[in-house]
Amino acid sequence: MGRLEGKVAIVTGAAQGQGAAIARRFVDEGARVVCGDVVDEPGKTLADELGDAAIYVHHDVTDEASWDDTVGAAERAFGPPSVLINNAGIIRWDPLEKHSLDDYLAVIRVNQVGCFLGMRAVIGSMKESGGGSIVNTASSAGLEGNAGTIGYSASKFAVRGMTKTAAIELGKYNIRVNTVCPGGINTQMGNPLGGTADEANAAFKRNPIARIGTPHEIASMMVFLASDESSYCTGADFIVDGGYTTGKNPMRI
Ligand SMILES: NC(=O)c1ccc[n+]([C@@H]2O[C@H](COP(=O)([O-])OP(=O)(O)OC[C@H]3O[C@@H](n4cnc5c(N)ncnc54)[C@H](O)[C@@H]3O)[C@@H](O)[C@H]2O)c1
Repeated sequence: MGRLEGKVAIVTGAAQGQGAAIARRFVDEGARVVCGDVVDEPGKTLADELGDAAIYVHHDVTDEASWDDTVGAAERAFGPPSVLINNAGIIRWDPLEKHSLDDYLAVIRVNQVGCFLGMRAVIGSMKESGGGSIVNTASSAGLEGNAGTIGYSASKFAVRGMTKTAAIELGKYNIRVNTVCPGGINTQMGNPLGGTADEANAAFKRNPIARIGTPHEIASMMVFLASDESSYCTGADFIVDGGYTTGKNPMRI
């Protein structure tokens, strides 16, 4: 029996990268999955590949009405969702001095407001299901500073705070809320130039685990948090970064 048998999950930003890996693993583990994204073709292709256990919906996480549509689609297709993976995210690079307000707000809307709307949208369904698990995707950039990504860093620190607040409020409904904090992961966001594995790994040679991470490694943590195996975990950050944020090694030991 799969570790997510009987679970109905919504995965945002599921068309590619970590979201697609999470959707695949969830179906492998017995969940039924609503894959949402704003880029429809790869999202539909993924859902087709996953068969009867998955559907694709056009879902913009910044849009309140789109959340209602997605939760409704999940309920009609599979029943009330008991798992929400807030994975969708964007990043904009520029030093603070040059960072435009438009870029800053765009990132906040997807990464931060998207999580807020998502958590709020599933509470009713999760109460109906007798509980649930929400995972918000933060980042190593939500644990420490990261030059060049002021809006992204703000959004990911906010996600961690929102997660803890929601966990306190929702525990009484048996709804758990946690974050996953990835380090560098080999996706379009983490390897935007599409470098080879060796090129991607080179940027992480000072990591305790001296390579870039894989989307599969994020999906493994998501399976744990979505499953009942993590039944006593809430309000916590689960760091999957190969030790990137562990500390300094000035003597290069
Ligand atoms: N890759 C990394 O190195 C890394 C590191 C730390 C955290 N993260 C976080 O992990 C999550 C997944 O990132 P990824 O690496 O898979 O990125 P990615 O760019 O490969 O995929 C992100 C997905 O989100 C979708 N998306 C963007 N805006 C959306 C919106 N408004 N509504 C719905 N979907 C939207 C995109 O279309 C895309 O499919 C993000 O929250 C990201 O911030 C990634």
